[in-house]
Amino acid sequence: MRSKIVAGNWKMNNNQDETESLLTDLKNNLPSTTAEVIVAPTFVNLAQATSAVKDSAIQVAAQNMHFAANGAFTGEISADMLLNIGIDTVIIGHSERRAYFGETDELLAKKVATALDNNMRIIFCFGEELEDRKSGNHFKVVASQLKNGLFSLPADAFKSIVLAYEPVWAIGTGETASPEQAQEMHAFIRETLSEAYSSDIAQEVSILYGGSVKPGNANEIFSKPDVDGGLIGGASLVADDFLAIVKAI
Ligand code: PGA
Repeated sequence: MRSKIVAGNWKMNNNQDETESLLTDLKNNLPSTTAEVIVAPTFVNLAQATSAVKDSAIQVAAQNMHFAANGAFTGEISADMLLNIGIDTVIIGHSERRAYFGETDELLAKKVATALDNNMRIIFCFGEELEDRKSGNHFKVVASQLKNGLFSLPADAFKSIVLAYEPVWAIGTGETASPEQAQEMHAFIRETLSEAYSSDIAQEVSILYGGSVKPGNANEIFSKPDVDGGLIGGASLVADDFLAIVKAI
């Protein structure tokens, strides 16, 4: 059975004090759930975050990493650096990395390969832009992001991959895909995986929805059969909101 997951992508928010206080609130009020709960603070606070959630069910992930093992890559973070502080999950391919930092499918495929070589778990993000949806190209765009980023991998790699479908037009905009739009795309993603690999793999991979998930819409989105949880941005910065979304799953 595939896991249900609620992951909070904190992006470039929360200094050390704010990280401490948000994690304390989350830890003290975490509802009992069979879903996995993950938070992704910024790099400088990852070590602190792992120790803050040590006695709780909350897991900590990184928001990005470099594909190289080490070397002259000023400002970058390696897999080994993350593993060494107890982080074995990494978000790769977030649309903000693609749009603002020029990360291409080709670069992301290298990051994915490095993460897998290091036995890390990946939350792989992808999703179409507004124009793609308006022109009816959204399925094509998503299929090509999946193919270019992931489909050269061997089948067993998918044990370590969580997919996060995040339509760019819904991220941070307050506009969500309707539960029907999310379900339609998630079913398409599963079908695409099934064609590229097998229906077993398609059924085992968790597919999260991301893009303006809030306490008010989480229930309906999560009730869709192919939606296995959410990648939450803005609402993950407010303890009550994130906890309400965890409850919704
Ligand atoms: P949002 O962000 O929930 O603020 O729309 C989602 C994401 O970027 O992962």
